[in-house]
Amino acid sequence: MKKRGEETKKTDDRVETLDRELSQMGIRIRDSDDRKVRDEVFDEVTLYALYKLAKKKVISAVGGSISTGKEANVFYAEHGEGEDCVIKIYRIRTGNFNAMSDYILGDPRFSNIRKTKKDIIFAWTKKEYSNLSRALEAGLPVPEPIAFDRNILIMGFLGEGGVPYPQLRLAPPDDPEGAYAEVLDLITRLYQKARLVHGDLSEYNILSGGGRLWLIDVGQAVTPDHPSAHRFLFRDIQNMNRYFGSRCKTLDEHEILKGIVGEEFFTP
Ligand SMILES: Nc1ncnc2c1ncn2[C@@H]1O[C@H](COP(=O)(O)OP(=O)(O)O)[C@@H](O)[C@H]1O
Ligand SMILES: [Mg+2]
Repeated sequence: MKKRGEETKKTDDRVETLDRELSQMGIRIRDSDDRKVRDEVFDEVTLYALYKLAKKKVISAVGGSISTGKEANVFYAEHGEGEDCVIKIYRIRTGNFNAMSDYILGDPRFSNIRKTKKDIIFAWTKKEYSNLSRALEAGLPVPEPIAFDRNILIMGFLGEGGVPYPQLRLAPPDDPEGAYAEVLDLITRLYQKARLVHGDLSEYNILSGGGRLWLIDVGQAVTPDHPSAHRFLFRDIQNMNRYFGSRCKTLDEHEILKGIVGEEFFTP
């Protein structure tokens, strides 16, 4: 018991030191007096990653919480000369990471990673970063990937005046036909140009603002050679048809899939 107590104390000391270092660089974790957020999000590994990013001057401030999801917390932050950005932190302690393993292990880009919880989370963060890069290079409206370290992803802020754009579910489109066509175009370009399938597309992972729709949350996105790529793509299409089905006329799901992947690859 004594040994364990000593270990805990050492960890606490290291956490405190990192915290102090971060404070000295002007980075205060705003929720730090909230014990639960502290313990669940800002553990030693995370503080260290934050420290490294601050040291490299990738981030200069961490602001308020934007979202607490199943696996990650999203915070408003600043980088460079006070430009808006977002920091997404995958929780190592309480993240639901079982689903992550399935996606990662089928992806040939990540076939040789070790399989501990931490490794999978780090690989996932890297995967979200590279998926954003691929999508952005192909001209898709996604947040700009800025940096990543361990379980932390830094990306461009989608919003105005410090207020994030709302999710599609909270901002139902005035022109549903137009929005539906826009979403189908995004799914198509994501597949054909970026060679990615989103894999978790819904009215939660589309933001609406600045006169267009934006794709976010691409950690689980897979390349077309993933064994489940077409199944994920079909599910994305179904989700969008479900959302738009009560708002406008939608197209047949199989026809959409065929149109995207091409007749020759089509397996229902
Ligand atoms: N780049 C961004 N700019 C503005 N808001 C964002 C950004 N990324 C995420 N958000 C907000 O945080 C929420 C959760 O982000 P998301 O990437 O979907 O994480 P989760 O895996 O928890 O669903 C989003 O629905 C959105 O409201
Ligand atoms: Mg999401």
